[in-house]
Amino acid sequence: MVGYATLVLSPATDSYFCDVSVSLALRRRGIGTRLFTEVQRVADRPLPVLGRVMSSQPLRRPFAEHLGGSVLMHCPTPALDPTSAACRHWTAAQRLPEGYVTAPMVDVPAEEVRAAWSSYFTWAHQPFGVVRPEALPTVWDDYRGGVDATLSSLCRDADGAIVALSLVSPEVWDGRTFIVAETVDRDQPLGLALLQATLAASLRALADRGFERVEIEGHSSDAHIPPLFETLPAGSHDPMDLYLFAPDRDAVSSSSTSKQPPQP
Ligand SMILES: CC(C)(COP(=O)(O)OP(=O)(O)OC[C@H]1O[C@@H](n2cnc3c(N)ncnc32)[C@H](O)[C@@H]1OP(=O)(O)O)[C@@H](O)C(=O)NCCC(=O)NCCS
Repeated sequence: MVGYATLVLSPATDSYFCDVSVSLALRRRGIGTRLFTEVQRVADRPLPVLGRVMSSQPLRRPFAEHLGGSVLMHCPTPALDPTSAACRHWTAAQRLPEGYVTAPMVDVPAEEVRAAWSSYFTWAHQPFGVVRPEALPTVWDDYRGGVDATLSSLCRDADGAIVALSLVSPEVWDGRTFIVAETVDRDQPLGLALLQATLAASLRALADRGFERVEIEGHSSDAHIPPLFETLPAGSHDPMDLYLFAPDRDAVSSSSTSKQPPQP
């Protein structure tokens, strides 16, 4: 095998994720371009195709740009040490606006949490493609399996409605711990302060349990993630860009055929 390409339909949005990899010794011969073009022929509909460019795989960027992709959004993914003095200082400085309370997820009815996450997921993933509401219960069930209900936090308003969430998935991928945090409604009043206080509740719980590294997920297109990240203590990060490729690949298809690569 000289390389492979995968095309995966997103679980709940009308878009595909494409991943191409070519053996080190056989790169720059047009194989990656050919694989990218060919794999899209198996798609049953002309949906947008997304690709991930991680900081750990820098060659993906010129490749994605060669294919006509453009950056759809950045995912800065900052890392924090909840036990550090800087993080404890940040956590202590967050003030919950009057009339709101935070609670560990374990104290909130499961159906309310699912509904709050579904609302958040729907607005936050609109830039990826059309969200399919009927798929959300299955996506939630899969995701919920990795979420720790004692580390995760929710924020309620005076009427008891959940307005912000901070969902912690400990050691869920490659030993890494991630948090998904945002407001339930995109246009939530006082959204940044509510999000900060809700995240702080999770960071306190993580510190109490001795977690020394947690990474915060989120997109540059999210309502409160960019201003939130500006306030966090400085630390390491593992950024990723999501590229968008138009469904029409005719231009790439014709340019790749001129290179006559070996058969993949
Ligand atoms: C990204 C990847 C799939 C490209 O596969 P490929 O078969 O080499 O791609 P192609 O030959 O079709 O390249 C098409 C175009 O992409 C761009 N490109 C690909 N690799 C590039 C590189 N190393 N540097 C600059 N541009 C590059 C060029 O524009 C190239 O056209 P050109 O060769 O006419 O200049 C391959 O490098 C890969 O598998 N990378 C994943 C692993 C990785 O990134 N590791 C990082 C190690 S530091």
